Amino acid sequence: MPMVRLVYFSTLTLDLKKDTRQDQINVILRSAQLHNLEMGLTGALIYDEKWLAQILEGERADLLQLYKRIERYNRHTNVALVEMAEAPARYFEIWSMSCAERTQTSLSIFAPFFTQWPIPARRNACR
Ligand SMILES: Cc1cc2nc3c(=O)[nH]c(=O)nc-3n(C[C@H](O)[C@H](O)[C@H](O)COP(=O)(O)O)c2cc1C
Repeated sequence: MPMVRLVYFSTLTLDLKKDTRQDQINVILRSAQLHNLEMGLTGALIYDEKWLAQILEGERADLLQLYKRIERYNRHTNVALVEMAEAPARYFEIWSMSCAERTQTSLSIFAPFFTQWPIPARRNACR
């Protein structure tokens, strides 16, 4: 099965009256990590006070199913697919889902996948 990489970004809509941004991201992350481990998915998530970008790696059908689910969560909106394409290998091989707040350094880890933040969505992003 060919390995596919999916990249999207979205606008965060977290309610910070309830919990800190970090805590709410951690809740998402914990269940994402468990599920991704079971499904053989890997990837990374990066966020700041406004935007979030996520890279997901795995089999196409699994990614599409997950992406449809992710799109519906009300913790973010304007979910925009940047790219979905076959990739020769996993980049985040040992991470069921890694996570970083956006800084100059953490952003550089994502440099192979996008150079602009926020990332402009592409037409025909699915390849
Ligand atoms: C930004 C974002 C990224 C997510 N990434 C993943 C993921 O990589 N894998 C996964 O299984 N679920 C992912 N989810 C779903 C959540 O991990 C989890 O299913 C959800 O927060 C649980 O909420 P619920 O109990 O209200 O369904 C993501 C959700 C959001 C909002």
